[in-house]
Amino acid sequence: MIVVTGATGQLGRLVVEGLLEKVAPAEIVAAVRDPAKAAEFATRGVQVRRADYDDPASLAAAFAGADKVLLISSSTPGQRLAQHEAVIAAAREAGAGHLAYTSVLAADTTKLFVAPDHKATEEAIRASGLPFTFLRNGWYTENYAQTIAQALASGSFAGSAGDGKLGAVPRADFAAAAVEVLTGEGHEGRVYELAGDEPFGYADLAATITAVSGTPVTYQDLPAEQHRQLLVGAGLPEPVAAMLVDADRGIAEGELASTSGDLSRLIGRPTTSLTEAVTALVKG
Ligand SMILES: NC(=O)c1ccc[n+]([C@@H]2O[C@H](COP(=O)([O-])OP(=O)(O)OC[C@H]3O[C@@H](n4cnc5c(N)ncnc54)[C@H](OP(=O)(O)O)[C@@H]3O)[C@@H](O)[C@H]2O)c1
Repeated sequence: MIVVTGATGQLGRLVVEGLLEKVAPAEIVAAVRDPAKAAEFATRGVQVRRADYDDPASLAAAFAGADKVLLISSSTPGQRLAQHEAVIAAAREAGAGHLAYTSVLAADTTKLFVAPDHKATEEAIRASGLPFTFLRNGWYTENYAQTIAQALASGSFAGSAGDGKLGAVPRADFAAAAVEVLTGEGHEGRVYELAGDEPFGYADLAATITAVSGTPVTYQDLPAEQHRQLLVGAGLPEPVAAMLVDADRGIAEGELASTSGDLSRLIGRPTTSLTEAVTALVKG
């Protein structure tokens, strides 16, 4: 039995779809906060079980009979570590044979704002004694959906990443990697640094948006503080603006790219190209 937490999230849904291509639906457990949101999976024979990270009893029940568990990191900043610890404890109690976790690139060394929860979760998983796999995901290209829409409307987008490069790819590539880890052999104890084969900079992104849409788009590079002020001025909450500026710092310093080749090796194909990813986002 393969259990996927956060299975009604954007990544989780893609993982369940990928599993459905490889294993019988009854072997898949969609562990979700709100079973009503997973009704479609249930009609296809997937086991839908309520699993709220904030409700340990629900986790224990959801993980019964689990051979493998994929913990998709929670989307609640400030609470995630405690939530992840509850999942790890429940997986251990259930006697799961393998726990995979969606982490972040170089979780143990990166300075990225989002990293401390991931680093602490990885440490908790190691300490649990459960056989594990860390899927250290890079950035999703979908993170740029709004940037692209705004750039198409105004002719430019701003950032503070300089000429740094990032290996962002669509969620579907990361989902395929998770499916391989959950269905393939030899992934226990492995730490995968997952990113696109061909890192790109924001100037490349602007050129690709231009080529794909036919609308000329330029990238405007700003000093970090000016970038932050621009985002806050546009109505973003301070913590969100700080996170976006920190991500651009990470890109400038190479923290959101990897030369490991782990992602294309795991999924058995080149990662999705920037042109393909941007085309999907431009078409909406
Ligand atoms: N690599 C990147 O670029 C990137 C970007 C953003 C986030 N992330 C991280 O990657 C994770 C997956 O990405 P995503 O795009 O799939 O995010 P998402 O669509 O926001 O999905 C998050 C999932 O977490 C579930 N969740 C949140 N709180 C929960 C709780 N208390 N109990 C049980 N489930 C809970 C949500 O449940 P519901 O379906 O009920 O809402 C949802 O299924 C995110 O949660 C975040 O940690 C990565």
